[in-house]
Amino acid sequence: MKNRKIKSLKCISCGEEHEQKKGLYTCKKCSSNLEVIYDYSYIKKRISKAKLRKNRTFDIWRYEALLPIEDTRYKPPVQIGGSPLYDNDTLARSMGIRKLYLKDDSRNPSASFKDRASAVAMVNALENNEKVLCGASTGNAASSMSCLTSTCSTKTIIFVPQSAPKAKIAQLLVFGASVIMVKGTYDDAFDLCIEASKEFGWYNRNTGYNPYTREGKKTCSFEIAEQLHWNVPDRVFVPTGDGNILSGIWKGFKDLYALRFITKLPKLIAVQAQYSNAVQKAFDSDGRIRPVSGKTIADSISVSFPRDGDAAVQAIRESNGSAVTVTDDEILKAIKDVARGAGIFGEPAGVTSFAGLKKAIKTGEIKRNESAVVLITGNGLKDIDSAMKCVGEPFLIKPELKALKNIIKKI
Ligand SMILES: Cc1ncc(COP(=O)(O)O)c(C=O)c1O
Ligand SMILES: [Zn+2]
Repeated sequence: MKNRKIKSLKCISCGEEHEQKKGLYTCKKCSSNLEVIYDYSYIKKRISKAKLRKNRTFDIWRYEALLPIEDTRYKPPVQIGGSPLYDNDTLARSMGIRKLYLKDDSRNPSASFKDRASAVAMVNALENNEKVLCGASTGNAASSMSCLTSTCSTKTIIFVPQSAPKAKIAQLLVFGASVIMVKGTYDDAFDLCIEASKEFGWYNRNTGYNPYTREGKKTCSFEIAEQLHWNVPDRVFVPTGDGNILSGIWKGFKDLYALRFITKLPKLIAVQAQYSNAVQKAFDSDGRIRPVSGKTIADSISVSFPRDGDAAVQAIRESNGSAVTVTDDEILKAIKDVARGAGIFGEPAGVTSFAGLKKAIKTGEIKRNESAVVLITGNGLKDIDSAMKCVGEPFLIKPELKALKNIIKKI
């Protein structure tokens, strides 16, 4: 059955339009990524601000009218999205900007933003009667896929680099996925996963390559806009690896703009790690993505060749935004800053956005009268080794008051 909401899947590079079809991932003409093009006049009849006010569903399925799925029959049995947007005036004041909001997506079922993408990809797979789902991941996309498919009768096969943090591997195994650790980088795992899915006919959830991951990720923008009563922030700071969260955030705001739910679009700021900065380099030069080393402590954004890089660069350009890079030390410092300034424990990649905001304030890129949303994309408990690098050791004493008195002076 043809999905009435969808007009076509359009190539982001050559513009070739394709009909939505099982097994179609990339452009048949030039192999670039595809974008889902919607029929907004059809969608307009199904969603409105008034309808949303009455809607008692507070997860991503609230925006079903704007998702590339037929219905929510196959949705996983856990809450995805509907994450809080914290208005933190104290931090805004101390940093010298008008408004600062933190979107806490570490509270998703598998503790990262990636659940939004996995949920939509998974429903798409089940609607197409797929039996084996696979995906390559730095860790979070995989743990999310494993979590959401854990109760399905389908099989989930995951490819991760050997270096993925232990907690993420534990999640994969606990949720029952078949885990294949690749002796190589995320990029190696990604390529092998695509080869395998072609060879064995598996459904592939790989970030960027699968056109529906972006569609899931865009739900975060719907929430931000609605939580701000349809007032759009001046800037959104996005931790960026493959660039798919970034292109998703842009898609979400553009959807709302097309429906006239909002009248302004935000500037998107891609925040990358210093040596995992292919998107920033492309944006600041000729727009072409070229591989970089990808080395950073923030494992989730450790990417040599961003798989949605072209769409990410397009999004930054269209939004009049920019790209900033931060060092590993700045990322580690941001773990403490966000924990102590907002009460959120983020993983290194998850707080990179905050480090990027600090940098943008320092360089004068963001002005005092502006408002910013910072996405916190992953939970700190996923990588405690990194967290421990930015804090001291606890006090260790004998169970005696005398010993306690000795150290109390230092507290
Ligand atoms: C916690 C976290 N933040 C940010 C990102 C970056 O997302 P993208 O690769 O789409 O740029 C990821 C991706 O794995 C992630 O897990
Ligand atoms: Zn093309």
